[in-house]
Amino acid sequence: MINEDGALMDAQSLRTRADRYVLGALRRERRVVFTKGSGSRLWDAEGREYLDAVSGTNGPAMVGHANPHVVAAVSAQMAELPSTFLIHDSVPVIRFAERISEISPTGPAKTFLCPGGGEAVEAAVKLAMRITGRNEVISLQGAYHGMSLATMSLGGLPALREWVPGGMRWPSFQQAPAPDPYRPVLVSDADWRPAAAALRAALDAGTYHQVAAVILEIVQGPGGHVELPGDYVREVADICRERGVLLIVDEVQTGLARCGALWACDLHGIRPDIVVIGKAFGGGTPFGAVIVRADLINDEIEASPWHILTFMNQPLQAAAGNAVLDVVETDQLVDRAVELGERARARFREMAKTYEVIGDVRGPGLFVGVDLVTDRSTREPASDACTQAWEHAMDIGLITWFGGSGNVLKFKPPLTSTDEEIERMLERAEAVIAFVETHVRASS
Ligand SMILES: Cc1ncc(COP(=O)(O)O)c(C=O)c1O
Repeated sequence: MINEDGALMDAQSLRTRADRYVLGALRRERRVVFTKGSGSRLWDAEGREYLDAVSGTNGPAMVGHANPHVVAAVSAQMAELPSTFLIHDSVPVIRFAERISEISPTGPAKTFLCPGGGEAVEAAVKLAMRITGRNEVISLQGAYHGMSLATMSLGGLPALREWVPGGMRWPSFQQAPAPDPYRPVLVSDADWRPAAAALRAALDAGTYHQVAAVILEIVQGPGGHVELPGDYVREVADICRERGVLLIVDEVQTGLARCGALWACDLHGIRPDIVVIGKAFGGGTPFGAVIVRADLINDEIEASPWHILTFMNQPLQAAAGNAVLDVVETDQLVDRAVELGERARARFREMAKTYEVIGDVRGPGLFVGVDLVTDRSTREPASDACTQAWEHAMDIGLITWFGGSGNVLKFKPPLTSTDEEIERMLERAEAVIAFVETHVRASS
C-alpha cells in the first residue's frame, strides 16, 4: 500500500505508528492492522486472511463486513443528506422508527437513535426515571451495559466496574443476583426461583424504595453467554408489571435475528417497556437506539432536554439501519441463525467428547459460548490457557474473544456466512480448544 507521501506503508511501520499515535484500550502486545473486510473475512496489512467469528465487536458485521446493500444505502445517504440539526426530522429516521414500531417486542413504540449501545442504555435509564418519577435502577450480577460512568455502575462484572479507583457506584443503582444455570450463586442446583425471590424481596422489603426500572440482558453476552432461564425472565416481567417498575431489556448484542428469533425477548414471549439496541443495526456504522412503548411518552418529555446529542436521530445512521433491516428480511437471517446455531452447538458438543476442557456449550441461535474449564467437576474457568489461546487463534486466522472470566469462547459469526466459512471457523475453533486442552493438561 502507498500512503499520501508515496512511502511504503509496510505492516511493521503501521504497527509502530499505531503504538505511537493511537490511544488504545484493552491493548495487547500482539498488534494487527487490518486493511480490508468483506463478508466474514478480513485481511491485514500483510495480506493475511482471517475469518471473523465475532462479527466485528460481536455484531456490527452481523450482515457481513462491507455488505453491498448497506454500502450502497449509506453511500447514497451520505451524498443526499448525512446530518441535520438535532431537533429536525428526516425521511430515513422516520422510516426506521416506523419499521421498528411494527416489529418491536414492546408493541407500538417510539425510537431515539444515538451513536452507541451504552449511550442508548443511558438514554433508557434517564427516560425510565423521567417517566416514573423515581431514580433507582436494578441490574443483575454478571450484566454488561456499557462503559460510560453510569453504565459501568449498572454493570455486574467486577473486573470492569472496579477499574475506576474506588469502584464505580452510582448511588441509586444496585445489582440483584442473576440465576446462572451453570455457576449458580444462590443454590447448588440450577433453580431460578431463589433469584426471583431475591428480586421480589429487594423490591418489597425495603432495600430499594424508588425503583424506576429493572434492566437485564436475556443472554448475558460479555458475562459469558449466561442464558437466563425463560421462567425467570417471565417472572421478572410479572414482578415489574405488578409494581409499576419498568422493564428495560438490553438487546444490544442479542437483537435482530442473532438469537434465532427477531428479538431475544421473543424466545420467552415477554413484552418489555423499553428495549435498547445497537451493534448489528448499524451494519458497521456507529449505532445505538432506545425503543420505548409509545404510550409511556408524552409531549412534555419530548419537548424537554432529556437527552441531547449531536448525533441523535441522524439520517446517515438511520439509512444504515434500514438497509440492515432489509438484509435481515431478504436473506431470511432469523432462519439462518437457527440453522447455523444448531450446527455449531452440535459440533461443539461433539468436540466435548474429545476435549475435557469443554464444560458447557450454550446460547440461542448463532450466539454461542463455549465455557472452557480446568476441571469439569469444579467448573474452574480455564482463563490463563484461554489468554494464550487467543494468540493461537490469531495465528491460525480466527478472530474470536473470550468472555465471562476470560474463558468463554465466543462464536457469533456473521449470519450471512456461507456453509463453507462456518465449517472452516468451526475447524479453527476446534484447534483453539485443543490448544486450551494441551495447556490446561500441561499445568495440572
Ligand atoms: C449487552 C450490551 N449492552 C451494551 C453494550 C454497550 O454498547 P457500546 O459498546 O456500543 O456502547 C454492549 C457492548 O458490548 C453490550 O454487549
